[in-house]
Amino acid sequence: MVGCVEQTPFMRAFVRMATDSWNQGWHERNGGNLSYRIPEDEIDSILGQIEYGEWKPLGITAPNVAGEFFLITAAGSYFRNIADDISRCAGIIQIDGSGASYRQCWGFAGGGHPTSELPTHIMNHEVKKLATCGANRVIHHAHPANIVALTFVLPLTSEAFTHKLWQMISECAMVFPEGVGVLSWGVPGSMQLAENSAELMKRVNAVVWAHHGLFCAGNTFDEAFGLMHTIEKAASILVKVLSMVGCGGQFRQTITDANLHSLADAYNLELADFA
Ligand code: 13P
Ligand code: ZN
Repeated sequence: MVGCVEQTPFMRAFVRMATDSWNQGWHERNGGNLSYRIPEDEIDSILGQIEYGEWKPLGITAPNVAGEFFLITAAGSYFRNIADDISRCAGIIQIDGSGASYRQCWGFAGGGHPTSELPTHIMNHEVKKLATCGANRVIHHAHPANIVALTFVLPLTSEAFTHKLWQMISECAMVFPEGVGVLSWGVPGSMQLAENSAELMKRVNAVVWAHHGLFCAGNTFDEAFGLMHTIEKAASILVKVLSMVGCGGQFRQTITDANLHSLADAYNLELADFA
């Protein structure tokens, strides 16, 4: 039945997340991409409408996600259009039994194909599936302006970004106690960025790409969206503060390391060793 795939709960949740992200201003033009590892029962519900294309090389090998299906945005598609045209702006792919190739199964209408960041999405799913015993399902990449702005003035280290973001809002240490990873500039869509991101994703759920954007992982759409939102909100506060005091300037007061340790005690947080 035409339109049936589009009406499944996972497809509607994907569209809602894309629309919410677009409304945040994180996705100029075709900026950003989104992927969801589809559970077996959800893929079973649409198997009758799947049409398998040819196998194509992924460029990386991801054996932990061999055989899995992913809903993923199309290269060059605009988040602005996802709600109105999901079968053109996204599609479903399956990974082969070795984890080295994929085939298109649904969507990508008009001759499209998966995002240019497919290697990073699949490598991130590869490590997050293992790290979370299968719980992680969502990888989201966006270009939020404030976190990108900070990559011009903060040292490009996990320690500097994590510590400064934790200092901006008390919730930050609770939402990402493991901190954020940071990578220096790399060629978008490259295998190098995919491999370096996945290495960091083994221990964090968010990786900053200098002068480009942010990747976030989550077990659910809410978690992935919430993490992106929290980091960008904290980054926006830091940008405001730095605009007032200057980059070398002193904050009159802040959340101190002692405060962070009190938070960790009160909420049983395993804070990364940056405070
Ligand atoms: P795609 O249009 O290929 O998804 O690329 C957008 C992007 O943000 C690349 O980093
Ligand atoms: Zn990007």
